[in-house]
Amino acid sequence: MPLAALAREYAALRPAIDAAVHDVFVSGRVVRGPWIARFERAWARRLGVRHVVLVHSGTTALAVALAAAGVRRGDEVIVPALTFPATAEAVLALGARPVVVDVAPDTLLLDVDAALRAVGPRTRAVVPVHLYGQPHPRLAALARELRRRRVALVEDACQAHGAATPGARSGVLGVAAAFSFYPTKNLSTYGEAGAVATDDPRLAARVRAWRNHGLGPRGGRPRFGLNLWPGEIEAAILCVKLPHLRAWNAARRAAARQYDRALAGHPRLRPVANAAGNRHVYHQYVVRARDRDLWRARFAAAGIETAVHYPRALPDLPGLAGRVRVAGRCDAARAAAREVFSLPVHPWLTETERRRIVAVLAAGGRQTGRRADRRASSRAAL
Ligand SMILES: Cc1ncc(COP(=O)(O)O)c(C=O)c1O
Repeated sequence: MPLAALAREYAALRPAIDAAVHDVFVSGRVVRGPWIARFERAWARRLGVRHVVLVHSGTTALAVALAAAGVRRGDEVIVPALTFPATAEAVLALGARPVVVDVAPDTLLLDVDAALRAVGPRTRAVVPVHLYGQPHPRLAALARELRRRRVALVEDACQAHGAATPGARSGVLGVAAAFSFYPTKNLSTYGEAGAVATDDPRLAARVRAWRNHGLGPRGGRPRFGLNLWPGEIEAAILCVKLPHLRAWNAARRAAARQYDRALAGHPRLRPVANAAGNRHVYHQYVVRARDRDLWRARFAAAGIETAVHYPRALPDLPGLAGRVRVAGRCDAARAAAREVFSLPVHPWLTETERRRIVAVLAAGGRQTGRRADRRASSRAAL
């Protein structure tokens, strides 16, 4: 049972996807055509923002969003210690320095107080990550405080399509947000794509120019830019899938509720905490265990794939060593990196498959519980 199930998804959507891709081929407009514009409008409407610019990956979206928000060589950008490395790579790509701050020990999301303490004269932006699809619960307060300090808030919403707190949808509180449509994401294409979402027309225009060799829509004097376009096929597939996102996220939440129930009062495992009232979209369902390897072996023996998101905190990644500044200790992120693992939670799981996952959770709890009981009783006998 795999962690993601693109083949099942394609089997269900095949006529619509084939028709959209066919349309791209027969139109002859395989790049920079109408599907990109159509998806940008649809995703902007769905998020409730004025502008969406589609680019060729989430990493690129983060980098150009930061550049358009004013991040330059030598600036500092605050990022959480537990995330996919792209959050820091995008900062480094601009010649700026990631400043790594710990995460909250329960939700594993950027510790807002630590982030505000880390803001200094060189800080140009803060990048909270809606990790695992959980919308950051304190973003509105962070956004207000950062506006006061003239520091940009750029959301890494690469894992959070459709997530929301009671106050706002993920991807609308900062000056800009970056999304990824990598194939395993809640909303994905069959290739690579990402997007910048923003309400600011000037920021959107800058991202569009970056995407197109520095050229504006009517030409003019070019600034510096690159070619950051995705293909039309990627956009056409996104247009077909977008209307399903709500139902897919609901299916992920239903699976998560089932796992939550199985883990309530569990002797060895605990899920990552979800702040009350949040619309978490469970890009990953993440469990913590001190004896993680044992649990992963149990799932593997039952034919169930698991993964670790992420095995190292950012400061401990060899590729980032010496390139980031670490503000304070990252104890919570490091503890999580030792304990977390992800279970399949995608919308294509059958009820039987979800029950198999629940059965491993329950059986493992009984086994470790019995062993703990035996240890306890042998100690009592001494
Ligand atoms: C939190 C986070 N940020 C950034 C990215 C980068 O997105 P992409 O893989 O589309 O470049 C990802 C994707 O895996 C991600 O999960």
